[in-house]
Amino acid sequence: MRTWEETIRYIRTLPEYAELVEKAYFEEDLAANVERFRKSEEFLQTLKLLRQYSPGAKSLLDIGSGNGISAIALALEGYEVTVSEPDPSDTVGAGAIRQLQAQYDIAGMKVYEQFAEDIDVEKASFDIVYVRQAMHHAYDLRQFIANLATLLKPGGFLFTIRDHVIYDEDDKERFLREHPLQKFYGGENAFTSAEYREAMEAAGLAVLQELSYYDSIINYFPMTHADIEKQKETKRLQFRSAFNTRVGAMRAIPGLFAVYKRKNRHLLELNEKDIAGRMYSYIAQKK
Ligand SMILES: C[S@@+](CC[C@H](N)C(=O)[O-])C[C@H]1O[C@@H](n2cnc3c(N)ncnc32)[C@H](O)[C@@H]1O
Repeated sequence: MRTWEETIRYIRTLPEYAELVEKAYFEEDLAANVERFRKSEEFLQTLKLLRQYSPGAKSLLDIGSGNGISAIALALEGYEVTVSEPDPSDTVGAGAIRQLQAQYDIAGMKVYEQFAEDIDVEKASFDIVYVRQAMHHAYDLRQFIANLATLLKPGGFLFTIRDHVIYDEDDKERFLREHPLQKFYGGENAFTSAEYREAMEAAGLAVLQELSYYDSIINYFPMTHADIEKQKETKRLQFRSAFNTRVGAMRAIPGLFAVYKRKNRHLLELNEKDIAGRMYSYIAQKK
């Protein structure tokens, strides 16, 4: 098994991973990743929610920031960002964040190398804690969220973005089997939506929004709204063709399609169960 850093350096050499490297912001040119992330529909929609829920927010803690794309993007939007990333590496960890901090000349951004479960900074000092694709890596989910909750000011917000959700152990196995990088580094994980929500509530947070996979482009990006509409149209065509096959010549009977449609409506909807480890995002507030 490789480390996470070794995995990213390795897949950069494999042409079949070029698209993943680009879409997951793993390119060697760190600033190029930041620039693409800043303009992404995912980030723009996240910003909208941050401003909607916490219009006056200034202090923001970015947890498990990886190579720092979000920390820099949020700092460039005017937030006073503190970062914690337990991986010290120059490729996908705190070393990369410090390089970007120097490149973008962001003064005063503190970079810690601690796990969320243990991070020890001033209690009740942040308006927002932002966690992108890192909560599902928690080694202790309840402690992860409980500790972050202590760092929020009363009324402050926890935004967790794009975490893998599983329904049960079989679904988790399928997710781990299908994850494109798991075979290289073995560090993937996922929880049920109930586990995320219960950990938030146990930490004294009120869950204000659970954005399931198709609820928001934050989760399904880099797919676009148009891609989703195209998938729905394909479902509609398949539905019509299944109806025609099933009823044969009877398909001309007036009203029969409407009855079939009422009974089988679920077949027309996109189903997140089709996506292994589909991602969810949460907005929670400290009481
Ligand atoms: C998939 S990466 C996401 C990185 C970055 N937030 C992004 O969206 O590009 C997950 C990150 O979570 C970090 N991580 C793993 N366990 C963690 C924990 N218990 N607390 C905080 N961060 C953790 C990893 O080091 C890694 O950088």
